[in-house]
Amino acid sequence: MAILFLSDAAAATAWADALANELPDEVIRVNTGPGDDGDVEFAVVWQPAKGRLARIPNLRAIFSLGAGVDHIFADSELPAHVPVFRLIDPVLTAQMAEYVVMNVLWHHRGMDQYAAHQAGRRWRQADLPRTARRRVGIMGLGVLGSAAAEALARFGFPLAGWTRTARDWPLGEAFHGRGGLRPFLAISDILVCLLPLTPETEGILDAGAFAALPSGAALINAARGGHVVEADLIDALDSGALGAATLDVFATEPLAQDHPFWAHPRVRVTPHVAAITYGDTTAREIALNIGRFRAGAPMSGLVDRARRY
Ligand code: NAP
Ligand code: GLV
Repeated sequence: MAILFLSDAAAATAWADALANELPDEVIRVNTGPGDDGDVEFAVVWQPAKGRLARIPNLRAIFSLGAGVDHIFADSELPAHVPVFRLIDPVLTAQMAEYVVMNVLWHHRGMDQYAAHQAGRRWRQADLPRTARRRVGIMGLGVLGSAAAEALARFGFPLAGWTRTARDWPLGEAFHGRGGLRPFLAISDILVCLLPLTPETEGILDAGAFAALPSGAALINAARGGHVVEADLIDALDSGALGAATLDVFATEPLAQDHPFWAHPRVRVTPHVAAITYGDTTAREIALNIGRFRAGAPMSGLVDRARRY
């Protein structure tokens, strides 16, 4: 039986080689066309082409090359009976915590203004609110949001979290559901988005959400571009309602050359690198999961089809 690797990423062949290292007895094919698929049991994918997975007759499981699975559910012909597994990789998780900490500290310490002052050779010392008074709100307390929260808690930021379901949360104030969104936003001086992109969360960062934040709040979106209504974000930044934004993900990637985010003085752009897929660690996690599947053991990262995450 075989594993089919489907990805247009430049590193796809290297990733497949890493998987071959972990699973030396498996046949692994990379981006082969439909027709060669009779022996394919498992697909390991990033942004598979529409209908491609449906053409694999004996497919038993789909493994995402990333933590997110929106790129798989974007396929309207996704076979309904095949389980989907997201990636849980401790290395990727730690990277996301780094990215969030780095950007929370950037906004907390007012670094945008110092970068501008340096460009103008100006020596100006601004007020610095105490860490214990800078409230950080995290949308999504899953694998990545929880890791980011734990890292931020070590600095002493007061934390709030927003999730779909209710929970007791020792690290801060917990809010959930649509009813909890406005009160959560109202106490988020720095808002971090680490939600999965689903029909419920698409466009959630819109004019209403920005208006609900404390005046001059900062946004860090390291989840998906589809969470943000880009025109509303630019309006909120231009009006000063929102003080700054760090954006790692965009509705269309790569970000178009003429996109206003590139040159906006209150926007920091990174090119979807908050947490990247490393071939070796990803291959290890997927190989372990394939081993569990074969052994009938409990799996890591099974996606709930109804929730889409
Ligand atoms: P996860 O473990 O599936 O956690 C998702 C969290 O979001 C959960 O806490 C969940 O609430 C909450 N949530 C889902 N739908 C919600 C809704 N409608 N309302 C309120 N809360 C909701 O996801 P993860 O592993 O932390 O990853 C999050 C996302 O990060 C991924 O889906 C991916 O898109 C993105 N990502 C980006 C990068 C990058 O480089 N920029 C890298 C990796 C991942 P419950 O706890 O109540 O279920
Ligand atoms: C990256 O965006 C991922 O989903 O892992």
